[in-house]
Amino acid sequence: MKNKKINIAIDGYSSCGKSTLAKAIAKKMGYLFIDSGAMYRAITYYFIKKKLINALDIGNIDLVKELNNVDVQFIKNEVNSEYSIFLNGQNVNEEIRKMEVNQLVSKVASVKEVRQKLVLLQQNIGKNGGVVMDGRDIGSVVFPNAEVKFFLTADPKVRAQRRWLEIQEQNVSFEEVLKNVEERDYLDTSRKESPLIQVKDAIVIDNSNLNQNEQLELALQYIEKKL
Ligand code: CDP
Repeated sequence: MKNKKINIAIDGYSSCGKSTLAKAIAKKMGYLFIDSGAMYRAITYYFIKKKLINALDIGNIDLVKELNNVDVQFIKNEVNSEYSIFLNGQNVNEEIRKMEVNQLVSKVASVKEVRQKLVLLQQNIGKNGGVVMDGRDIGSVVFPNAEVKFFLTADPKVRAQRRWLEIQEQNVSFEEVLKNVEERDYLDTSRKESPLIQVKDAIVIDNSNLNQNEQLELALQYIEKKL
């Protein structure tokens, strides 16, 4: 059934290359790549902008009421065919990668109502198949019936190093990035609402010692068997 469009779920820890792999698989297969983390980041950015949350805390009551005013969409740039994330009509691709968003996103992502809103949107995007989505709960909650599920992992220091290189222009120390990676690992795996888990039918890829091509080749071999 080579023509059947399946959904591919990629879950795993912070900064372990999920989006890179998801994007590469989507390109190879002509599928749509969706970075679900960008959606949690966009909502977090909205709350920061509206000064509803600060570096110290989030106030759940206000957040839940405000959710009705938040519209998150992926829109295709016709020039390079890449998708950008739009928050209430504004392209926020750059803003959502800021350290202030990194520091609050896992707290915002632990709010039940935030998750309910985004999971519905994500399921709707994938209802006809042909989607590669990465996140924390894709194989467990968003697409529990996905034909292919990957669980990515890598040593925390390797992950922090990769993320640090990505955001060097933000003048953040390696230690700060490592601390953030470890904190988010803890929050993502210990939260009550849809924690990051390794589901039984997921294929585990530890990419500490794999480059992007090696990781892609390995993933494509698994996918090929499922088509
Ligand atoms: O790129 P990175 O791995 O650092 O994170 P991300 O995929 O951009 O996701 C940012 C944060 O959103 C994560 O640390 C999670 O707290 C949350 N998230 C989630 O809870 N569920 C998802 N499906 C995706 C992200």
